[in-house]
Amino acid sequence: MSIPSGGTSVTRRPTILVTGAQGQIGYELVRLLAPHGDVVATDRATLDLADPDAIVAAVRRAKPALIVNAGAYTAVDLAEREPALARAINGRAPGILGEEAKRLGAVLIHYSTDYVFDGTRTTPYPEDAPAAPQNAYGASKLEGERAIVASGAHALVLRTSWVYGLRGRNFLLTIRRLAAEREEITVVADQTGVPNWSRVLAAATVRIVGAGLPAVAERAGLYHLSCTGQASWYDFARAILGDAPRPRIVPITTAEYPTPARRPAYGVLATSRFTATFGFTLPDWREALASCVASPAAPPRSA
Ligand SMILES: NC(=O)c1ccc[n+]([C@@H]2O[C@H](COP(=O)([O-])OP(=O)(O)OC[C@H]3O[C@@H](n4cnc5c(N)ncnc54)[C@H](OP(=O)(O)O)[C@@H]3O)[C@@H](O)[C@H]2O)c1
Repeated sequence: MSIPSGGTSVTRRPTILVTGAQGQIGYELVRLLAPHGDVVATDRATLDLADPDAIVAAVRRAKPALIVNAGAYTAVDLAEREPALARAINGRAPGILGEEAKRLGAVLIHYSTDYVFDGTRTTPYPEDAPAAPQNAYGASKLEGERAIVASGAHALVLRTSWVYGLRGRNFLLTIRRLAAEREEITVVADQTGVPNWSRVLAAATVRIVGAGLPAVAERAGLYHLSCTGQASWYDFARAILGDAPRPRIVPITTAEYPTPARRPAYGVLATSRFTATFGFTLPDWREALASCVASPAAPPRSA
């Protein structure tokens, strides 16, 4: 951003407000966004997204040119028991961020999920496929998408799926832990989606930001952001454990592994709108997984 100053031009770095900075995507974003601006990284302790007044105050204090909302209520099963909290964080907070972004003339980048869909398709979901969430988490995320549209902010809503990384709570780390404890692991083989490394998603976001915020604002809208290929959870587990002889990995059905929240059977997202707009695609999920497991272990989250 160039600010005229007495005949010379002073370049002022934009302020970038990141929520959910301790999360899988948020953690990666904070590091990757640093060359692009002054990052104000907030987490649950410093900005509670369930508190509307706190959101308004944080945005007005930081006066960001860009808000990246990586915070979310992501406990899919627990959301069935805490739908009001899930809606406050995933449904209401994005709308407030949108209203504040509009007021400031800032750009908002937000993440959503394949769980807005019912999973009955057998070919990748385009952005305009009808949403029909099957669980409280998906419903709360859809509400957030709609609240952002209603805010009128220049916003990118990036839907993605099956996020993993070397920190936090995710399938990769769960399978590694179970592999160390058990001789046999049963894994659901009849749900199909795409695993996405959090760093790949953050890097794609930052690549978009690198084009400049006016360019981002011009491309405001809803996009599917995902690695290519597809997998079942069973395929994903096999790829994580590779050729190791132990543990044995046994495919099971969703019916054999009942969970409080119903999951869509199919959640592959069509990414052609993203590619056509931003000019790049993400790697195949197996390639991204190989890069993730080869990367140095992430430090544990700070307290
Ligand atoms: N994880 C997936 O498989 C997946 C799939 C599709 C889309 N997404 C979307 O991708 C985005 C990022 O997800 P992620 O995988 O990075 O999730 P994550 O690792 O669970 O990170 C979310 C972060 O939000 C924080 N948070 C929760 N409640 C909060 C509150 N009340 N106030 C402030 N922060 C709060 C969490 O804090 P604590 O650590 O303290 O709980 C956590 O650090 C989300 O929008 C999510 O819906 C995720």
